[in-house]
Amino acid sequence: MGIIIKSDGEIEVMREAGRITAEVLKRLVSHVKPGIRTEELDVIAEKEARGLGAVPSFKGYRGYPASLCVSVNDEIVHGIPDKRILQNGDIVSLDFGVIYKGFQGDVARTVAVGKASLSACKLMEVTEEALKAGIAAACGGCRLGDISAAVEEYAESRGYTVVREYTGHGIGRNMHEDPQIPNTTKSVFGLMRGTGPVLRRGMTLAIEPMVNIGSWETKVDDNGWTVRTRDGSLSAHFEDTIAITDGKPEVLTSA
Ligand code: MF3
Ligand code: CO
Repeated sequence: MGIIIKSDGEIEVMREAGRITAEVLKRLVSHVKPGIRTEELDVIAEKEARGLGAVPSFKGYRGYPASLCVSVNDEIVHGIPDKRILQNGDIVSLDFGVIYKGFQGDVARTVAVGKASLSACKLMEVTEEALKAGIAAACGGCRLGDISAAVEEYAESRGYTVVREYTGHGIGRNMHEDPQIPNTTKSVFGLMRGTGPVLRRGMTLAIEPMVNIGSWETKVDDNGWTVRTRDGSLSAHFEDTIAITDGKPEVLTSA
């Protein structure tokens, strides 16, 4: 299929989709406190998105049962909201997407519930900065592998591991378009610096590093969705939707 180039008009709609996605995530974060159930966050996500004129994109996607992914502590991604009550000291990854006027936005942040440990806070900070390093590497004329290498180098040089089996992705009219965007140069998905497709103005990408304190290895729960660290160590996840320009990339999901 190849990587789809969006017109300036399409990018403008994706800006709006991204802004709505980020705004809903910001509102969700303000509700994250000890005592809230993860399914309450899901209800808020859907209501806020619809109030802003958008439709949540995850519900029904390959049978996913909710509008929001909520992944707590050792859960990496795709946690299903349920009756679980968030506790002081948990870290929680919120991953949310919408469709607006036919285009998608996709964003994720990990935040502390109440006060988290110093090691958890460092993990979150490094993962957020690894995302920023990946975004900074996504300049027009650069290669896809430059993103993977930048994310990996940032996290690994600080003693963390990067999840290998799950990747970022192109995004546009569909949540998942070509190309896959690995966060690592290792594994079957891996891409080395200076390799992979050249990034061109009009490409729209979701970059989403998942970073662990322990091993990079993962396992999936019996529900078929929840991905967690194999060794039970903490994991964080940050994602932004961006547009490639002739120069620096534009982040479409900043609130
Ligand atoms: N944000 C996730 C991604 O980038 C989407 C969650 S998968 C879903 O792949 F099935 F829950 F939608
Ligand atoms: Co995504």
